[in-house]
Amino acid sequence: MANVIIHHCPSLKLARERKTTITDYSLIKISKFLSCYAKNKRYFIYTHGCQANYRDSEIYKGIFEEIGFKPSNDISRANLILINTCAVRENAENKVFGEIGNLKYLKNKKDVTLVLAGCMAMEEVMVNELIKTFKHVDIILGTHDIAKFPDLLEEHLKTNKRVVEVNSGSGYIHERLPSVRDSSFKAFVNITYGCDKFCTYCIVPYTRGRERSRNPKDIINECRELVKQGYLEITLLGQNVDSYGKDLKKQYSFAKLLDEIAKLKIHRLSFLTSHPYDFSLDIIKVMKKHKNIQPYLHLPLQSGDDKVLKIMGRKYDSKKYLSIIKFARKEMPNLFISTDIIVGFPNESDVQFKNTLKMVKVAQYDGAFTFIYSKRSGTPAAKMVDKISNQTKVKRFKELTRLLNQIIEKNNQKYLNKTFEVLVDSVSKNNPKALTGRMHNNKMINFNGDKKYVGRLVKVKVTSTHIHYLIGEMVK
Ligand code: 5AD
Ligand code: SF4
Repeated sequence: MANVIIHHCPSLKLARERKTTITDYSLIKISKFLSCYAKNKRYFIYTHGCQANYRDSEIYKGIFEEIGFKPSNDISRANLILINTCAVRENAENKVFGEIGNLKYLKNKKDVTLVLAGCMAMEEVMVNELIKTFKHVDIILGTHDIAKFPDLLEEHLKTNKRVVEVNSGSGYIHERLPSVRDSSFKAFVNITYGCDKFCTYCIVPYTRGRERSRNPKDIINECRELVKQGYLEITLLGQNVDSYGKDLKKQYSFAKLLDEIAKLKIHRLSFLTSHPYDFSLDIIKVMKKHKNIQPYLHLPLQSGDDKVLKIMGRKYDSKKYLSIIKFARKEMPNLFISTDIIVGFPNESDVQFKNTLKMVKVAQYDGAFTFIYSKRSGTPAAKMVDKISNQTKVKRFKELTRLLNQIIEKNNQKYLNKTFEVLVDSVSKNNPKALTGRMHNNKMINFNGDKKYVGRLVKVKVTSTHIHYLIGEMVK
């Protein structure tokens, strides 16, 4: 390890420790050495995982461009490559291993600094593995260490050694970091970082740290600025938005924050992700009050069985979950409700799985993300001896998907022949004449149209349906 400078390595024990939230408003400083180095050099970023990672990549872009690097769409032209990783399930990690392996040829050919950041860097077992196996990774840095990137890069360039900086326990929020947003019309705004729920299957509280809420004035100022810049849509982000403000000196609820931001008159406002334990019915009341809040609620169920929910550490039961759905559907009949469900949690019985199917039938979801349980080293569930075969899990997964598809397809019929406002996201990947966008309630819709409409609001009439999206035609 003579060629590796290790400042800090991740510690799952430290990640569990609660710290007071401290907001740091200092600006990052870039040395002359770095600005000279970056002249005429380009960067490329791979981003995996959730919206929080996409937002972090925007911050990385901001820092890289402040140093002086220019973006490149072509990885072979880049001198700085960053892989922003996800650790939530094993298949996300395997993709990253493949990517790192593929980059070896580039490193051998030219002057490239390869950086591994994000959630995989936060795992104890993973960092040791990365240091040992992937000797061409130059910098490994954790999710709490983004602002230190310029110093770490300088250290690597000056010493020609690999550098590891991963701090696990952090109560910090770093405001005023530079950022380059991916879109000029849709923006993610963090409201909390980390998670305090420690669901027994989940690695996120270890990789993202304990929950920290941003100060309301910082969030509101960021949103106000986005409105001024002409953004049409803001999505407020947190692993559990409903517990927003509980760690602030002066407590502040998510419902109040949502109400304040909706008043800024952003065209569309939404939020991700809700947790049934912390969800307050006041949120539905605020959603109902403001036309610009999307009628869209993502409320993970995870399991429909009370015993499984208890072992998962979810802190609610099926009755509480259904009471939210019932209230929400009564107050907002047009609400689009989506969910996350895990199949094959250790020792989930047939009856327990059937309870999930029953809940799905009652909730009548409009959208869903389904996952087969993935063992995450360091989490309590990873220590459970699991008697259920993989074959059974795959069979259940298919059964759940079939049921959800039926329900979603049935719900899709209500859109047929109606016209909706659509915010056009992009040109379709498979067809240059097709556009893809989101309706008022976040439902995806594809239709033919010119690329000039990207970033604009158009009217689209639904002509046919598909499980995961609608198909329509633009109405003048
Ligand atoms: N295995 C499978 N799915 C998981 N999720 C989180 N951890 C795991 C895991 N270990 C799912 C949950 C969560 C979503 C983002 O990922 O459903 O809501
Ligand atoms: Fe993971 Fe549970 Fe936190 Fe969601 S609420 S990020 S599933 S620990």
